[in-house]
Amino acid sequence: MKKRLFLIGGRCLAAGIFLLGQDGAAVPSKCEECHVAISPMQVKDFNRGVMSETMTCIDCHGESHTSAEDVANTRLPTIATCQECHEQQAAQYLSGKHALGLAAMNAMPYTHMQPRSFVEGQKGCGGCHTLGLMNQEARKSDGRRYYRYGMDCQNCHTRHAFSKAEASEPEACQTCHMGFDHAQWEMWSSSKHGVTYLMNRAIDPENKDRAPVCQTCHMPGGDHRVFTAWGFLAVRLPEPDKEWVRYRTTILKGLGVLDPDGNPTARLDVVKAAKVARLDEESFWAERQRMVEVCTQCHTPFFVSENMKNADLMIKESDVLFAEAIEIVAGLYRDGLIKKREDYHAYPDLLTFYEVDTKIEEVLYEMFMDHRMKTFQGAFHMNYDYSTWYGYAKMKKDLVEIRELAEKMRAEKR
Ligand code: HEC
Ligand code: HEC
Ligand code: HEC
Ligand code: HEC
Ligand code: HEC
Ligand code: HEC
Ligand code: HEC
Ligand code: HEC
Repeated sequence: MKKRLFLIGGRCLAAGIFLLGQDGAAVPSKCEECHVAISPMQVKDFNRGVMSETMTCIDCHGESHTSAEDVANTRLPTIATCQECHEQQAAQYLSGKHALGLAAMNAMPYTHMQPRSFVEGQKGCGGCHTLGLMNQEARKSDGRRYYRYGMDCQNCHTRHAFSKAEASEPEACQTCHMGFDHAQWEMWSSSKHGVTYLMNRAIDPENKDRAPVCQTCHMPGGDHRVFTAWGFLAVRLPEPDKEWVRYRTTILKGLGVLDPDGNPTARLDVVKAAKVARLDEESFWAERQRMVEVCTQCHTPFFVSENMKNADLMIKESDVLFAEAIEIVAGLYRDGLIKKREDYHAYPDLLTFYEVDTKIEEVLYEMFMDHRMKTFQGAFHMNYDYSTWYGYAKMKKDLVEIRELAEKMRAEKR
């Protein structure tokens, strides 16, 4: 392959080296000559990475832009660009949950009502969720491309270093997997696993891998397909536990996947397409088994199965409280104490997230997105504090508040 950089003592001399075409116009290596002045760190980063040994800027950006006047002609790479040379990683990635990130976001009923800047830019929902677009050529009115559209690979392999080592550190996941409704970073980094890893990375780097990072469990063997058994919403069908089925049914009504009589709605298809809920037993247990095989590299089978079972049961305990709360709010709809929106169907719509009209629904939203999430996500990430105090204890408080608010609304009506 073409290689136009000279390596001297392991360092690249990118700047001074360029070729001129027959007519003196810029040819590819001029990219660096000009960009070393405009964006020097990009040139430096790229030349530090292994790809600079055989590639240049044009391999990803094409060669149709050669001056400040024709910037809109440059190609911004997409997953398809990387796929040309990294077929395996791209195929794995595209078959996983990340690649459904935009579909799942757009499946939410109120996403289209969010301010555009929250959805389309590199910030807000879009900052984390513009995932899975292939060959995205959407352009703004000035002809320039949107950044990061269809360029998911850089989410862990930041440009232009594109490093494997960097993507293997847990911090690569932190920007998105943190905070309010998915605090996996906080949970892991203060769990025994995280603390053991971080301590050893500092004092005994060679043995840091004795404790697992996100990638150990979610990308075993470098598999780019991320997928978990329960997923974000932690609802699955069918459910063998008869008692749990009752709570689950209420939750599915709240999610709008079942109508008030318990029949599937059109939303079920959307949920299916974006794989938001787990809808058959087989795939649930296949994902679970994949995870258990990771744990048993370091722990014994019984230790692991007990841990998993107990975490599953914590979801059930949360669902007892959550279902009661949903039914209380549904009762207010039924009795006309909360005015239905046009598209509501007798149950509070949990998937509207924070787009709600009343205080009691706001509490229900927090119970769902903040406290129920923390209860079970904390359980799976060995974070006892998140499960207990930021999770279950807060759910209890939410339920008390919901009961009280409902009582007040009813009293006011009387
Ligand atoms: C004569 C100087 C010059 C040359 C040569 C040049 N560029 Fe650029 N490039 C620019 C300028 C100026 C910008 C725009 C900076 C801005 O808008 O802030 C730019 C922007 C870009 C962008 C960003 C595009 C975007 O939509 O934001 C890419 C990618 C790029 N150049 C790649 C290349 C590649 C690849 C080559 C070689 C084929 C090249 N450049 C050659 C000056 C140059
Ligand atoms: C392996 C593929 C690859 C190569 C090779 C590559 N880039 Fe990029 N470049 C990217 C990706 C990915 C993006 C981000 C695109 C996006 O956000 O949609 C990007 C974005 C850019 C941008 C615009 C964004 C910004 O941060 O300013 C510029 C400018 C740019 N590259 C310049 C260069 C230059 C100069 C070279 C050669 C030294 C180069 N690139 C080589 C993949 C590459
Ligand atoms: C023209 C072929 C080609 C394209 C296009 C390409 N790569 Fe590479 N890439 C390579 C080669 C060759 C290597 C070095 C050998 C290897 O590790 O496979 C490499 C290595 C890598 C590595 C390993 C780096 C390390 O630290 O070991 C990563 C990560 C990577 N590429 C990401 C990307 C991403 C992301 C894109 C798209 C933005 C991309 N590549 C586009 C050819 C390509
Ligand atoms: C969620 C984070 C993440 C994303 C997104 C991601 N990668 Fe990776 N990638 C990793 C990790 C972690 C490794 C190291 C795997 C290992 O230990 O073998 C890796 C390794 C690689 C390697 C080096 C493989 C090897 O064994 O040398 C290539 C090439 C690569 N990724 C390409 C891609 C491409 C192409 C995309 C986009 C389709 C992509 N990656 C998206 C995390 C990610
Ligand atoms: C750019 C933001 C971003 C980064 C960085 C990122 N993720 Fe994700 N991740 C997401 C989004 C968004 C989803 C939800 C996707 C969907 O809705 O389909 C997700 C989903 C997941 C899931 C699937 C959960 C389920 O439903 O089964 C796992 C596991 C996961 N990520 C692990 C990781 C790991 C491990 C890393 C780091 C190596 C990482 N992610 C880096 C944004 C990110
Ligand atoms: C010791 C292994 C392990 C480590 C380390 C780990 N996870 Fe997980 N993760 C799990 C298990 C187990 C589940 C639940 C799997 C199931 O549903 O059966 C899970 C679930 C998830 C989910 C789905 C929602 C949830 O929380 O239940 C995401 C997203 C996720 N992990 C991301 C991460 C990120 C990001 C990191 C690093 C900050 C990380 N995980 C570290 C084992 C791990
Ligand atoms: C900080 C990054 C970030 C922001 C901002 C963000 N999300 Fe997410 N979102 C994620 C991650 C990471 C997941 C996966 C979490 C998990 O599985 O535990 C996720 C999961 C989801 C899911 C569930 C997907 C599934 O299939 O399980 C939906 C729906 C969703 N987000 C919608 C939104 C909407 C709508 C917004 C804006 C109001 C938004 N998100 C803002 C990172 C983000
Ligand atoms: C790379 C090895 C490794 C993997 C993989 C791993 N662990 Fe661990 N685990 C450790 C180490 C090391 C510790 C900290 C030392 C200890 O407490 O025994 C630990 C601690 C724990 C603890 C805390 C024990 C305590 O006494 O507080 C639990 C629970 C646990 N692991 C469960 C799991 C589960 C479940 C999985 C799979 C989802 C898993 N581990 C995957 C290495 C691993």
